Amino acid sequence: MSRPSILSTHPLFPEARTMLDAGCDVEYWTRLERPSRAEFLKQVAPKDGLVCLLTEKIDREMLAAAPNLKISANVAVGYDNISVPDCTERRVVVTNTPGVLDETTADFAWTLLMTVARRVVEGEEVCRSGKWAGWNLDQLCGGDVWGKTLGVIGFGRIGRAVARRSRGFGMRLIYTDAIRAPEAAEHELGARFVDMDTLLRDADFVTVHVPLMAETRHLISAERLRKMKPTAYLINTARGPVVDNEALYQALHAGTIAGAGLDVHEHEPQIHPGLVSLKNVVLTPHIASASVETRTKMACMAAENVLAFFAGRRPPNVLNPEVLV
Ligand code: GLV
Repeated sequence: MSRPSILSTHPLFPEARTMLDAGCDVEYWTRLERPSRAEFLKQVAPKDGLVCLLTEKIDREMLAAAPNLKISANVAVGYDNISVPDCTERRVVVTNTPGVLDETTADFAWTLLMTVARRVVEGEEVCRSGKWAGWNLDQLCGGDVWGKTLGVIGFGRIGRAVARRSRGFGMRLIYTDAIRAPEAAEHELGARFVDMDTLLRDADFVTVHVPLMAETRHLISAERLRKMKPTAYLINTARGPVVDNEALYQALHAGTIAGAGLDVHEHEPQIHPGLVSLKNVVLTPHIASASVETRTKMACMAAENVLAFFAGRRPPNVLNPEVLV
């Protein structure tokens, strides 16, 4: 069989590129900016396979534009950019990259949590501005982290990795999820299952780790923000639309919650202009999994999914296995 022709919408890291090039003819998108929709549709049109980022929307229109496409390998664990039912109908295999980014993402949720609570960015600004007038008793006092209550919404792999880290800070740990974790996992982490309202009422830090689905869009709504303590912080490293960004801005502006750390945004790459104007929010550009090691592993995983498929093996991370039978 001739080598499959693949579009990769990113140049990938050298390890993944070497893997992919060994088995496929790959066209790489190498420009810094993301491809426009029209460029993407044009490039993917004749391809047998696709390695894509979460910035590419895989929907009916795209599938119609690429009649030979057999696999779409997302270089991300979240796959809300892909309509899996449409892919299944068209018999296009969909894969993602679970597992390899849990610890790195959890590290970053903690980075945001500590940074906003302890006002690191404001402190940085004081140092760089040359306006520091010297040590002062009440300068940049934030909120304590140690000994507080961490509330984890979504107790999957990443939520639990975040939870595990709270033990080193002597925190109380509560969580909520559609499905309660096995007793052994609760016991290991010292976690108590509560309902959403209790979590919002009791947590000093609320951290969100759910996938984006119809049920989780604006999960953190104005009403739910009102249930949080005025001293509490919200951390989002999941997906932007899980939090109503306008409602969050209003809450932060009015001081009905203390602060927020946001790695993901409702309309990426646009960031809510109100949030940009506030000091009690720390903003980062969707980089929670962005360590060289982890992003390399994610790219290699996507490459392996494509290679396995074209070698007639089951891709390790297939999301719609029914297409394979
Ligand atoms: C990143 O956001 C991912 O889903 O992997």
